[in-house]
Amino acid sequence: MTSSSNISLFDPVQAGDLHLANRVVMAPLTRNRSPNAVPPPIAATYYAQRATAGLLISEATAISQQGQGYSDVPGLYGTEQLDGWKRVTTEVHAAGGKIVVQLWHVGRVSHTDLQPDNGAPVAPSAITAKTQTVLIKNGKPEFVDTSTPRALRADELPGIVHSYEVAARNAVETAGFDGVEIHGANGYLLDQFLRSNSNHREDDYGGSIENRARLLLEVTRAVTGAIGGGKTGIRLSPVTPANDAFDADPQPLFDHVVRQLATLNLAYIHIIEGATGGAREVDGSPFDYPALKAAYREAGGKGAWMVNNGLDKVLAEKALANGADLVAFGRPFIGNPDLVERLRTDAPLNKDDKTTWYGGSEHGYTDYPTLKKA
Ligand SMILES: Cc1cc2nc3c(=O)[nH]c(=O)nc-3n(C[C@H](O)[C@H](O)[C@H](O)COP(=O)(O)O)c2cc1C
Repeated sequence: MTSSSNISLFDPVQAGDLHLANRVVMAPLTRNRSPNAVPPPIAATYYAQRATAGLLISEATAISQQGQGYSDVPGLYGTEQLDGWKRVTTEVHAAGGKIVVQLWHVGRVSHTDLQPDNGAPVAPSAITAKTQTVLIKNGKPEFVDTSTPRALRADELPGIVHSYEVAARNAVETAGFDGVEIHGANGYLLDQFLRSNSNHREDDYGGSIENRARLLLEVTRAVTGAIGGGKTGIRLSPVTPANDAFDADPQPLFDHVVRQLATLNLAYIHIIEGATGGAREVDGSPFDYPALKAAYREAGGKGAWMVNNGLDKVLAEKALANGADLVAFGRPFIGNPDLVERLRTDAPLNKDDKTTWYGGSEHGYTDYPTLKKA
């Protein structure tokens, strides 16, 4: 995947096996509207409404019950869940779109209420995340502190890798997704293993950069082995403090990660620049994103380079001119199902309503007006 400086947001692009009609991607957006972890029929409407994006990335979707960290988020580990997703992918494809599912294990960002047998959430080390999760009580979201996790034993890790592999295969073969995105960002399990503040292990999965990156790379190899690198993307957030994520020295860590990923022929690498949903520069955590991309390309990585965070049309075009291949928009897609058309015509954007982000009904979900209806 090479880039030139005169590409437009609306030009098609090939990302691995995925032929995308344009470079505008819908970022993954958790909406907490899937009781019993099953995407409801209205989720199919929601995603199909947004199918003019070059690529839709689904909301984060748990690979196992242990990987669940929030109420009413979807899963990929039960028949009904896969059937629910099949409805979504069928409607998205009928509307001419492409969709991948974001594979999620939250690790320590969970609550005993959501875990198998109300047990402790699992993590690289038994260190509580200073963050909150969302439980839906009587239909209303309630933010609660995460529960104290227990450290995973090394002999449990192959089972976790296997859960990712099974979820990826089911996503493509049964639920009809065009591929998957491995969630390696935002302080969830794989990111917890990467980072010095959450990973204090003394075995082969802790300590050195190579060891802390091991689980993420084992998962990615297992997923690409199951469905092919060309159907696999991965999301990373080198400096976000989301969910109490922190690393003392992120540049060499993430440079190592992308160099290793370069050998796996991935469809794309998805980078959140700065604090997810916040500042694009994080105080005290400078990060050289061009150097990260160069490390990937120098190691032979050919996947599309996707960037996200706080982009508008001007910043997105600048990102393409600076060598990104794809740009992902999150919040703008909540309020604007026809975001691509609005960007193309420089039409004003609807403002999304924060109070309906997590949980609720069709209001704030499928009832945002499009240009034609406005
Ligand atoms: C309501 C909401 C839910 C989100 N859910 C996810 C998620 O499931 N997975 C993920 O990786 N990021 C998630 N994010 C982060 C977004 O994908 C994106 O990185 C962030 O909103 C910044 O992009 P934006 O400025 O274009 O909104 C979420 C953000 C919001 C606002």
